[in-house]
Amino acid sequence: MKRCILSLVSLIFALHVSAQGPEVLIPAPAEVTVTGGSYKFSKKGPKVKVQRLPEGEMPAEAYRIIITKRGITISTSDWGTEACPGAGLSYALQTLDQMTAEGTVHELQCCEIYDYSRFPYRGLHVDVSRHFRSVDFLKKQIDAMAMFKMNRMHIHLTDAAGWRLQIDAYPRLTQFAAWRSQHTWKEWWAGDRHYAEEGDPGAYGGYYTKEEIRDLVSYARARHIEIIPEIEMPSHSEEVLAAYPELGCSGEAYQDSDFCVGNEEVFNFLETVLDEVMEVFPSEYIHIGGDEAGKQHWKTCPKCQKRMQEEGLKDVDELQSYMIKRMARYVESKGRKVIGWDEILDGGLAEGAAVMSWRGTEGGIAAMNMGHDVVMSPGRYCYLDHTQDAPFKEPQSIGGYLPLDSVYVYEPLEPSMPADKVHHLKGVQANLWSEYIVTDEHAEYMYWPRAIALAETGWSLPGNKDVKNFRQRVLRMLEIMRAKGYQTFDLENEYGERDGFLTGVDHKAKGCKVIYNKPIQDWYQAAGEKTFTDGVIGGWTYSDNRWQGFLSDIDVTIDMGSVQPVSYVGGTFMQLIGPGVFMPRKVDILVSEDGEDFTYVATIENDVPTSAEELTFRTFETSCDLNARYIRYHAYRSTMRGFLFLDEVVVN
Ligand code: ACM
Repeated sequence: MKRCILSLVSLIFALHVSAQGPEVLIPAPAEVTVTGGSYKFSKKGPKVKVQRLPEGEMPAEAYRIIITKRGITISTSDWGTEACPGAGLSYALQTLDQMTAEGTVHELQCCEIYDYSRFPYRGLHVDVSRHFRSVDFLKKQIDAMAMFKMNRMHIHLTDAAGWRLQIDAYPRLTQFAAWRSQHTWKEWWAGDRHYAEEGDPGAYGGYYTKEEIRDLVSYARARHIEIIPEIEMPSHSEEVLAAYPELGCSGEAYQDSDFCVGNEEVFNFLETVLDEVMEVFPSEYIHIGGDEAGKQHWKTCPKCQKRMQEEGLKDVDELQSYMIKRMARYVESKGRKVIGWDEILDGGLAEGAAVMSWRGTEGGIAAMNMGHDVVMSPGRYCYLDHTQDAPFKEPQSIGGYLPLDSVYVYEPLEPSMPADKVHHLKGVQANLWSEYIVTDEHAEYMYWPRAIALAETGWSLPGNKDVKNFRQRVLRMLEIMRAKGYQTFDLENEYGERDGFLTGVDHKAKGCKVIYNKPIQDWYQAAGEKTFTDGVIGGWTYSDNRWQGFLSDIDVTIDMGSVQPVSYVGGTFMQLIGPGVFMPRKVDILVSEDGEDFTYVATIENDVPTSAEELTFRTFETSCDLNARYIRYHAYRSTMRGFLFLDEVVVN
């Protein structure tokens, strides 16, 4: 409590400028004119008049605010009803709340704001399967989303780690598939990956009752947020197939992750589940997953093979497409639409299906070209499960590095999108997968402020965006959020990229030719043959195009052009065992004057254990006192196999 009062006091102090202008708003409004003078009002709040324009006079969600010395006028044609204000009116009120810092500022600059959204879909994703989240947590995030005019919450309700929705026709989904004996996903994943009975001592998990969902949906609707449920198919379904093994190809529990597409009972199951889902979620879209199906068992399963023969399907991609198309038709027959991850393109996209593009934007663009609606959620900009600051100071994450600025700079409209198809680009979504995110507090910390960056991308015109200015506005918003009890990332004390990332490194071999004794491989080429001598230092993630990756030894010889004194040779590797990135077993360093006779200088053995879970960097280096033109740097692949990643070989 004391902390709350203190932060409220500091908030008032920090925010109490004499007359607050509209420059603080997030998302940045479409058009703003500061007209001069200010409007002072009492602690009871400003005088606000609402002008209800005829329907259609302004676009959906749009509003105008005029602040004069005498008061505030809001006009919108999206005003809703007395009981339930329309989005236009609600967004106008959110804008005023931001300007007055939730009622702590009592003087506003006179101005006119005309505002509307760039994209109709501005989403946030919650993974409640890996770790269950309370309804209160979801409502709290909905409140924050509303502050920033986000309007879709996508709930990932089903996955191997637990089923999270009451389904009356299939009670084992919640009596059994919603529980496990390990609290954390990591322990469960490293263990037997089994499920527990509801009520077993120590059973971890949970699910939402239909009553709770109805309450959540209406809470969200009152804030102009639609909740989109996701029911995974055909894969990520281990929990269903443990509860109802007859729905998998093997017919046995703990054997399958994909539904058996040859089994008619699977379609009865999915249709019944979706009926119950649609009964409680009135959303336009129903998300049916579709990602990362292994499809292995389908290749030998007699039922799947029979289905392929009967339907004339040439491969298992077409078998997946058969399932998705059939489910899309079913959902459409109920007056809804399906949306799925971009893998639903494989084998042919279902008519009318929308695509959520996560593996990049190519899938989304292909779908747009075919006339399908698309939500962009590329991992590189929108995956909030990546760490948001230097990994050494952050909670352990699944990997990757995605600071606020990198989310913010994402521009969804790409030059390769044909002008006559851009209306299919419906918007953007930030995703928070929660394998490593156990608590509600940690999840909240991962959302804010990065979700705010995507909220602005979804709402504001690109010409109104500015990364530096956004940062200032976010700092103010974070004060407001913290005063309301949100656990946010401490942006003020952001460490930022790895040392040397921005400045690079100057050294003797910079710009010198690199001879590859083992060829560069297809993945992670970074700057190709220049990578190890370009003076460019890799960042916190191997996917930043600065690290060269090898599934073999790295064995290179650097030609410095002339014989020179050499006193140091070193290269830095990273280890991140989740995705299989390891330190080399050892590095040999050799030198030569003529490129033929090499003198051995040093072997540097690895001392980082392969069990070290956190992201670790280690420089394999040696000091020496030699003359050489050629430096051979040979890193031996770990006994754990996996990738080696190296960014630069520094010679001095
Ligand atoms: C996904 O990240 N598998 C959609």
